[in-house]
Amino acid sequence: MLSKKVEKALNDQIKMEGNSSNYYLALACWADMNGFSGVADFMYKQSDEERFHMLKLMKYVIERDGGAKVPAYDEPTVNVKTATGVFQDLYKHELAVTESINKLVGICLSENDYTTHNFLQWYVSEQLEEEATAKTILDKIKLMGDDKSAWYHFDRDIAGLTVTSVADAGAGA
Ligand code: FEO
Repeated sequence: MLSKKVEKALNDQIKMEGNSSNYYLALACWADMNGFSGVADFMYKQSDEERFHMLKLMKYVIERDGGAKVPAYDEPTVNVKTATGVFQDLYKHELAVTESINKLVGICLSENDYTTHNFLQWYVSEQLEEEATAKTILDKIKLMGDDKSAWYHFDRDIAGLTVTSVADAGAGA
């Protein structure tokens, strides 16, 4: 059984994951409308990934006899002007999610909820991976600078990648 405090904190995280999914969907649309179809594919997949994070939390709340709420979404506002901006936003957003997950873990400890604490370790690892991915991509972008041919290849290659494959390549580098 979840305490009311943990249940609320989990539902707040459900909302954050849902908003992340929508935000990445909006970034994917921006990339698709601006000629970066590979970047768009990557972000569409990232959006799906965030929806999966949301569902995993919902199912956990229900499994623990709590109430999972489908969140009302904020309309995502996209201010990026370049493909670089897409990945800067991705990185910034993932840092905020990590902070939120860490707070949630802290709440579980303060409520002596070691079951939820254990469940959340998957998210702690996932955040490490997602931050590493965004950082690896930003490092590559820095190397490319304004080289149009490099950007062409980058956009072609990133279409086939996922967060996991980029993180693994970064860790092995
Ligand atoms: Fe589910 Fe990327 O945080």
